[in-house]
Amino acid sequence: MIYFDNAATSWPKPLGVLESMQKYLRENGANPGRSGHKMSMAANEIVEETRELLSTMFKLNKPDRVIFTLNATDALNMAIKGLIKPGNHVVTSSMEHNSVTRPLHVLSQQGVNVTKVSCGMDGSFDLKQLESALQEDTKAIVILHASNVAGTLMPISEIGKIAKQRGITLIVDAAQTAGVFNIDMELMHIDLLAVPGHKGLMGPPGTGVLLLGSNVKLDTLREGGTGSYSDTPGQPEVLPEKYESGTLNTVGIAGLNAGIKWLLNTGLAEIKRHEMELATRFLQGAGQIKGLTIYGPRDAGKQAAVVSFALKGKDSVDVGGALDKQYSIAARAGLHCAPDAHRTLGTFDKKLVRFSWSYFNTAEEVDSALNALDEISKSDLPKSEGCGC
Ligand code: ALA
Repeated sequence: MIYFDNAATSWPKPLGVLESMQKYLRENGANPGRSGHKMSMAANEIVEETRELLSTMFKLNKPDRVIFTLNATDALNMAIKGLIKPGNHVVTSSMEHNSVTRPLHVLSQQGVNVTKVSCGMDGSFDLKQLESALQEDTKAIVILHASNVAGTLMPISEIGKIAKQRGITLIVDAAQTAGVFNIDMELMHIDLLAVPGHKGLMGPPGTGVLLLGSNVKLDTLREGGTGSYSDTPGQPEVLPEKYESGTLNTVGIAGLNAGIKWLLNTGLAEIKRHEMELATRFLQGAGQIKGLTIYGPRDAGKQAAVVSFALKGKDSVDVGGALDKQYSIAARAGLHCAPDAHRTLGTFDKKLVRFSWSYFNTAEEVDSALNALDEISKSDLPKSEGCGC
């Protein structure tokens, strides 16, 4: 199988990830922070070390403000609903994933005023439009770092400067960039950073993180056992427990721990170099395929290693089906849980096929996929059963 669906979840994982999860389950599968026995303490060490790794990686430098979540969507829900209240104004972009648009939709029905900045046809974000969208009472800007459809990078540092000058909280969805691009919360003035553990960070599904900047305070979305202050009726104020009720996904965190160590060993710059080389190879080769249109910046300097395209006269979901069935190439075809992004790109009806690469993909795989697309562009396709959602 050629796996080009790393924007959904990365695969394969570094071997150490599996080994670390097995070791945790075999040797000390206890509940961290719940008891004083040796096994619980050992489990706690894994969790706390992972917090430290994440806090350092994203230049937060406050491990107790690293909150483990189920995934980036969970982290975004905690950030958005914990901060933004009825009557507040919030600005977002027209390229967001449903992980942002749906929580904001719910809030808009409760009296939150949402402004969506319209992005360009390649997904690009205009800072001038942001300036005009901001109001005296704007509470937050919620924006992704790179589009999960077109790969387009957003100017987060510039947005961060504007947010800081105006005292607006900046919430960033780093689902497609964490583990590949440098993200410095302090330099970029990011107040809340939502990160999946299972994509670029190479951990298993079921892991995610919310990093809370120093001055941010959120209402809790859930309360319960924290392993601390059990004698008080209310949720403890102490971090990270305030936002981590119930047993953590410690086996997942053990895998994430190994994923991050693999990243640090390999080097983010090397990972980015390789992924962007693959994206560039594909962009160049795709230009030679008749009827293939790429939607996005078409420039490795302006995007993450995520590229979406359509073939003239072909249903994108059928193209995805043919890639899978005839060529064993895993791609995601459809709306990518990002209908707003597709409306912006003008592809809501047509839908697109998406390729997304990781460090484990090769130039040979990109060439095979280009050959496959060339053949598909010249053939009649059977109807696919894929959902295209
Ligand atoms: N957000 C993930 C994707 O774009 C699941 O496929």
